[in-house]
Formats: sequence, C-alpha cells, structure tokens
Amino acid sequence: MSETTELYYPNRELAKEARIKNMCEYEDLVKWAEEDYEGFWAHYAKEKLDWFELFDEEKVLDESDFPFVKWFGGGKLNVAYQCIDRHLDKRKNKAAIIWEGDRGDKRIITYLELYQEVNRFANLLKNEFGVKKGDRVVIYMPMIPEAAFAMLACARIGAIHSVVFGGFSAEALRDRIIDAEAKVVITADGAYRKDKPYMLKPVVDVALEEETPVEKVLVVERNNEEIAWVKGRDYSYNELIQTQSATCKPEVMESEDPLFLLYTSGSTGKPKGVQHNQAGYILWAQMTMEWVFDVKENDTYWCTADIGWITGHTYIVYGPLAMGATTVMFEGVPTYPDAGRPWKMVEEYRINQFYTAPTAIRVLHKMGEEEPSKYDLSSLKVLGTVGEPIDPPAWKWYYEVVGGGRCAIVDTYWQTETGGHIVSPLPFATPIKPACATLPLPGIFGEILDPQTGERVPVGEKGYMCVTKPWPSMIRGVWGDPERFKKSYFGDVKKNGKPVYFTGDGAVYDELGYITITGRTDDVINVSGHRLGTAEIEAAIKKHPNVAEVAVVGKPHEIKGESIFAYVVLKDDEGLGDEVAEMKAINAVIKSEIGNIALCDDIAFVPGLPKTRSGKIMRRILRAIAKGEPITQDTSTLEDPSVVEKIQTIVNK
Ligand code: WTA
Repeated sequence: MSETTELYYPNRELAKEARIKNMCEYEDLVKWAEEDYEGFWAHYAKEKLDWFELFDEEKVLDESDFPFVKWFGGGKLNVAYQCIDRHLDKRKNKAAIIWEGDRGDKRIITYLELYQEVNRFANLLKNEFGVKKGDRVVIYMPMIPEAAFAMLACARIGAIHSVVFGGFSAEALRDRIIDAEAKVVITADGAYRKDKPYMLKPVVDVALEEETPVEKVLVVERNNEEIAWVKGRDYSYNELIQTQSATCKPEVMESEDPLFLLYTSGSTGKPKGVQHNQAGYILWAQMTMEWVFDVKENDTYWCTADIGWITGHTYIVYGPLAMGATTVMFEGVPTYPDAGRPWKMVEEYRINQFYTAPTAIRVLHKMGEEEPSKYDLSSLKVLGTVGEPIDPPAWKWYYEVVGGGRCAIVDTYWQTETGGHIVSPLPFATPIKPACATLPLPGIFGEILDPQTGERVPVGEKGYMCVTKPWPSMIRGVWGDPERFKKSYFGDVKKNGKPVYFTGDGAVYDELGYITITGRTDDVINVSGHRLGTAEIEAAIKKHPNVAEVAVVGKPHEIKGESIFAYVVLKDDEGLGDEVAEMKAINAVIKSEIGNIALCDDIAFVPGLPKTRSGKIMRRILRAIAKGEPITQDTSTLEDPSVVEKIQTIVNK
C-alpha cells in the first residue's frame, strides 16, 4: 500500500488464475469495446450464450428508435435454458443452490434437481393456471428455493415475473399487481425470522380484497401456520406440484422479449416497473459474475441480498446459474442468533465470494468487531459490497478483519435499471482504494458529466454519473409508460447534443480517473440500501386524515446510511400534547401504505414548510436542518422566511 494514494494492490497469487489478471488485460478489453463496440458485444454474446437461433450479425445493436434500443436482433433463446439445461451435461450433480434457513435447516439443490423442480413449476403454471408467454406473474415470497424456482419457471414458459419484496405492505403489493396487470400471484404462507414465524399470505389476501386482475394465487406452504384459503382462487403448491411432469419444453424467446419487471422508486410519483429483456440481461449477468466475482468451477458463492431486489435477481439467481456456479441462498438475518452467523456460514460452506450491503457490514462491524476472527475464513477470495456508498471505516474492517488483508474488495456500483454492475474493480487486476467503485467495466461507457455542458468534469469536481452508449443489460422501458422512461433517464444530460443515460447519482473523479459515487442527486433516499422516493413516502403520510402538508428528506444515519426525516404540518394541532402518539399514527399509515422499510426515524411537527413564492418546497433547507447544519442559502426568497427559524427551534429542542 502506498501512503499517499492509499491504494491496495491485488493478491498476486490469486491473480495468476484470474480471468482478468492485470490492468493491461483490462485496458485491452476497454480498447476493444471502444474500437469495435458491436464486435465486442457480438463476440461475447456468441461465446457466453447458447442460442436456439443465432442473432443477425447485422443487428447486434439497433439504435434507430433511441432510447428504445434493441440488442441481438433475430436471436432466439431461453433464459431458464441458459441457467439450467445447458449445464446438465457437465454439472448434473453439482450444487446449483445451497439454501440455509433461518433456523439453520439446509437444502442442497443440484442442477438436475433444479431442472426437475423448475419444469414441474413451469408445468403447474401452464397447465393448472393457464399462464402463457407474456403474462405477468407477481412473486411475493420469502427467501426459499421455491422463490428462485418460480422466477425460472416463469422464464421457462416466457411469462414475465415481477418480484415484490416481502417487506412491502398489502397496498404496495396491490399497486404493483394492478400496474403490471398480473393474473397470478405466487406466495408462501410465511417463513421464519429470528426463529419466529411471520406471515405473507394474509398480506396477499388484503391486497386482493379490492378489484385486481389476479385470478389465481399459488401458496407454497413453508411454515405451515394457519392461513385462510379462498376457494377457486388459492391453491397449494405443495399439493399441485406432486402430479406435474418433470419435463417442460422451454419457450423459444426473441432476444428482446421481456424477461421481468421490477418496481423501483423514482424521484416523483409512484414506483416504476423497470423492464428487462432476455438476451442482453442474461449476457451481462453472466459476464459480470465471471469478471467481478471471478467465480471458479468449484467455488461456492454467497450473496446475502433478498430476491425482492435487483441484486437478488442478478446475483443470486440469474448470474450465478447462467455461469453454472453454486449459489448460496439464506433465509435468515445476518445478526441472528448473533453477529457471527455469516462468518459461521462462510466457514461451514467454505464460501469463496461473499457479497453484501454496506448496512450489513456496518451492523456486523458494530455488533461483532472480533467475531470474524473466531472462524476460519481462509476460503474467502472476493468480498463485494453494493447498494449505497460504503464509508472508509466499514471498508477497512471488511478488508482487514473479514478479508484478512488477503481478499479483493469489489465496491460494485449499479442500479435496478442497469441490470448488472457498471462501475467496479476487477478483483485481481484493479488496485483498489477504500470506498471507491474505481472504473467502468469494459464495454460500459460510464462517464461523469457536467449536466450543463455535457463535458467530462475535471478531477475533484462533482458531476452526474452517466452512461453514454447503450449496453445490453440496460433498462428497456418503464412498464406501460414510455414517456416516463424517456423523461426519467434521458432528459437531464446531453453529450454532443445527444441525450445519454443518467443514473440519478452524483460522482467525482480522482487523479487516477477513479470514480467515487457521492449519492443521489434527486429526491430518492437510500435507507439500508433500499431505494425509496420521498414523493412516495409523502403520499403515504398524506393519507393520515390530520396531515395538511408534509416534506420528507434523508438524514445521515450511522448504520442505515440514511434515515427518513419527515416535516409534518397538522391540520389540527390542538391535541399535539402527545407527539409520540401522533408519530406512531403516522408511522402506522406508512407501514400500511408501503411497509416497515419506509418508517420515519424522525418526525417534526412544524407550523409550516419553507416554500418559495411559487410554492416549491425548499428541501435543501430541510435537509440542512435535519443534519443540524447551518443554513447557507438565501432564505429571503421564501414566502415566509420566519418559518425556517421556527422549524430549527422545534428540531433542535
Ligand atoms: C446506490 C442496487 C454507492 C446508488 C444495485 C444507485 C451505490 C442506487 C452503489 C441503486 C455503490 C448502488 N456505491 N452507491 N457501490 N451501488 N448504489 O436500484 O444511489 O436498488 O442509484 O440497485 O443505489 O439502487 P437499486
């Protein structure tokens, strides 16, 4: 390590066997993509994917309807086939999924078993529920292997899945069901958390109390708690699966047929259904697994995400299985029964690559600084982080104590919309520095631009993190709303007069050209790596009958990264003797509208909000007050400048 730049160099021993062994190899790949963009991608699409019908070499990338782009035109394939069937020759008895339950129960599913399970599931959906190519299926599941089977079964028959995170409320689930016009919901009775059962099916029941397009509900019986069954609508997976055949022909899909939707928060309005399609998504999922985690044939890889988020899609299910790896799936909580749980699992399964979120690293650090040293973690080679900026102290603990100073840390920057990593170190090539995502991956034209000029920003100056060329795994659309797709991602930054993809994040270059992500530039809050729009939370709070106005901002939080701070103007503050009760009532509304992940840590009951004369809320002022920082901007343009002081007095008391 050099003192001045604080660079950590890759492990030379491990680099010998790596796919990308040094920076020269990295630069060669970057150059190749620069010089022959379509040739670069066509090469990998041929090498990595098994096509039923090869794409047309003239139609590698079709930008004629930009930003609606098409990759690998004329190609035909099936993603479930990529993830399962093509491995059967070589890996029939290899573990595809190793599952550990909350209570320490275990299941190992080989590739052959995965093939059979997925085919039975696919036949069930097709034959019992009449699910066809293009139909939408909502998956509202705990972290059990059946959740992965469900995704792959949809992919096999060409149905479009939309996984909804199990922490979302009935209202949030219903909104997503309606927006996607889903006709089937796959769920479970419930699962276990910290050794106690919790329930999902009752949430589905509430979601379906109002009119929705859902015809059938499939229930995986996981914890066997008592649930209600609606006759003619609800069916037991455990029963129906018994009689299904273990062979199901994969549907022949076009490269650009939709694969899945995943709802995510934007800065305005309701969540958007981010659409990913077949070939481009699965190609980049596999390539980044190979490059960024460098998983080897006999390795065991573990990503702790939930399948309800994009990380669970790309890096628990699709990426690892596409490359034929062994992927670990975990139902439990990393700090239960104690903060040694993940390290115990690393020791027991001889995990080689471990991928988690900074929030989890901070909690594990705080609750168990010495825990990792109690276990044999010598199998680890690559440690990954994702979802939010990681702070240097957490990074260093991860590097020194978990990784023993021997492992690479890959700080992977990406989003639901990018499908896979876009900026990340390569574990055995890139010299890394704490809390820095480093360089764009080969083939990704990631640049930090000045939104005014569209030029690259100089070193040390903050700009907008953009991608200036379409790439195979990029978002293809916002479900049902093409205008929103254009406006959300291609409206803010132009390079040489042409709109480019803007991530919504700010970033800076250092003198090495490395990229550090500084966080969102819009009204999106990142709580424990969960993306939430302030507009969504505000809309929820407004449903409380006594709320007149509300503004929500993010506040830095030691563990969660950010926490939610709401400024609320009540219609009637007569009874405000009991602020705690009022706070609880507001959080109860959030819980029912969105879910526990969006609860406010702070609520300030204020007499008014700082607004400009045109009625725009000055959130920057509210952010500064929440942080306890002095107000630097001019408040004289406010409709009522005195309100700022009043709010400060209330917050600081
Ligand atoms: C943030 C998660 C800093 C960023 C894969 C992005 C990060 C949002 C990093 C996407 C990172 C993700 N460093 N920030 N390594 N990775 N982010 O869609 O703000 O749930 O826009 O996808 O998380 O969140 P999403």
